[in-house]
Amino acid sequence: PLKNAQDVGIWSAQYIADKINAFNPTAERPFVLGLPTGGTPLATYKALIALYQAGKVSFKHVVTFNMDEYVGIPEDHPQSYHTFMHDNFFNHVDIQKENINLLNGNAPDVDAECQRYEDKIKSYGKINLFMGGVGNDGHIAFNEPGSSLSSRTRIKTLTPETRIANSRFFNNDVNQVPKFALTVGVATLMDAEELMVLATGANKSNAVQAAVEGSVNHLWTISCVQMHQKALIVCDEPATLEL
Ligand code: GLP
Repeated sequence: PLKNAQDVGIWSAQYIADKINAFNPTAERPFVLGLPTGGTPLATYKALIALYQAGKVSFKHVVTFNMDEYVGIPEDHPQSYHTFMHDNFFNHVDIQKENINLLNGNAPDVDAECQRYEDKIKSYGKINLFMGGVGNDGHIAFNEPGSSLSSRTRIKTLTPETRIANSRFFNNDVNQVPKFALTVGVATLMDAEELMVLATGANKSNAVQAAVEGSVNHLWTISCVQMHQKALIVCDEPATLEL
């Protein structure tokens, strides 16, 4: 494990930059990158912006797909994942607007929106690298405990635990946290060529243990990493406490 969350950010950013550079993307053959939100990837986004500013990586021919989005808050809400991604990453690099893909949590037809997203991913063949975080309870994206391991992009009801954990972004008021979200499924993540999960801090240690040492099961959807052909968990020391 790396020493702390900052080192996890620097390591994972360098890993992504190396992958993009080795792929040598063009407009006709873009690199397709899956991205998460949350507190954990903030250090990665910061380090990626620094690499971009130093001329070490370009996102000009990178296509992104975000994992999830809340349902029922406006796109420009300060805590929407649209806002998060633009504030913390997209606005600071040379990514092209048309290459950014986010789920629309306010789509009038939610099922059609989820199908559109799956179809759009397929139109690129596959996601080259999907970066994710993990919830304290072992969820990946918003695949809450009990989600089918063969799930695709769909609407999910958030568990009380997740809403409590995320209330820190909503004035510590759980009532302000949306009750639903659109999320890629476990199978959508499994289709990616490579899956990289970031976990930092002791509160993620049970999830890391379930991911690495537990059985593959739908109550800890992060355990899907064991079935993935090329999965990587990048953690700091406190996150490995239960291993
Ligand atoms: C949310 C997101 C997940 C994220 C998790 C952990 O539930 N939907 O994608 O991994 O939070 O977030 P954090 O990194 O803030 O602990």
